[in-house]
Amino acid sequence: MSLSRVARGAWFTPSDLAEKFASQAVERFFRPFATYDGRPLTVFEPGTGDGALLVAVGREYARRLSLFVPPDRREEAQHYWLREFGRRRLLQGIELDPTSADRTREALVALTGEDRAAEGIRVGDALFEPWPRARLVVANPPYLGGGKISGALGSDYRRRLVDAFPLLKGTANLATCWLQKAIQEGIGHASWILPMACAQGDSRLAGLAPMLASGWVITNATTNIPWPGDAAVNVALVHMQPRERSHSDFLAELGQSHSTQPHL
Ligand SMILES: C[S@@+](CC[C@H](N)C(=O)[O-])C[C@H]1O[C@@H](n2cnc3c(N)ncnc32)[C@H](O)[C@@H]1O
Repeated sequence: MSLSRVARGAWFTPSDLAEKFASQAVERFFRPFATYDGRPLTVFEPGTGDGALLVAVGREYARRLSLFVPPDRREEAQHYWLREFGRRRLLQGIELDPTSADRTREALVALTGEDRAAEGIRVGDALFEPWPRARLVVANPPYLGGGKISGALGSDYRRRLVDAFPLLKGTANLATCWLQKAIQEGIGHASWILPMACAQGDSRLAGLAPMLASGWVITNATTNIPWPGDAAVNVALVHMQPRERSHSDFLAELGQSHSTQPHL
């Protein structure tokens, strides 16, 4: 699909905001008193633009990891980790626009010093492709009011969207499809840059509300940030994780599986 920048909602995150977002997104993996658990942080971004968020998250994660070594070895440690992220293709994404995908690839290769980092990025429609398994999903999806979707993307595409994401109704923003997709994909931790419209009305019912009802909790949110570029919109940085199952949830599930599947 070849679309204009406006139709793709291609407003790229400026570096200041990307750094703030990355710091909040990565913080949760370094809770006070928690020790690094050694599992690699795989990060997936649908709609990478020029790679601003993936780069900021990769850089921040390497910086945090480097704090485990003495100060005089931290720079070396950051380079080591960034190279590892590249070598192991831990930063991944799907981007609709081939030119933007190339920019993301270049940015990841420059960040990590590894050509293999480019292989984590593919061109495609992230709303209609399976997402790779990742510990953290980050996204700044395209924003488009419900009434403008057919005009910008065509009525056939809108019909496809409604078939795939049935809560897209009334004035619900296109960005809510990305939240519905996240539910369908059963993702883990997620960090979003969302228009404030997502907290209200049809958009809330089509995105945040079902996500919260499906078991995610918001662990951190910074709201009402005026977009620092030329798009006249206020955004929120929203960080989520799946609700931890309590002992009683576990027992309730056990009870359910006994009643529906007595042979287990
Ligand atoms: C708001 S921009 C954000 C870009 C980047 N995440 C950032 O924060 O700078 C949205 C990006 O998603 C891409 N995009 C729009 N619809 C898409 C889709 N269905 N699948 C994949 N990428 C898409 C656009 O081309 C654009 O690069």
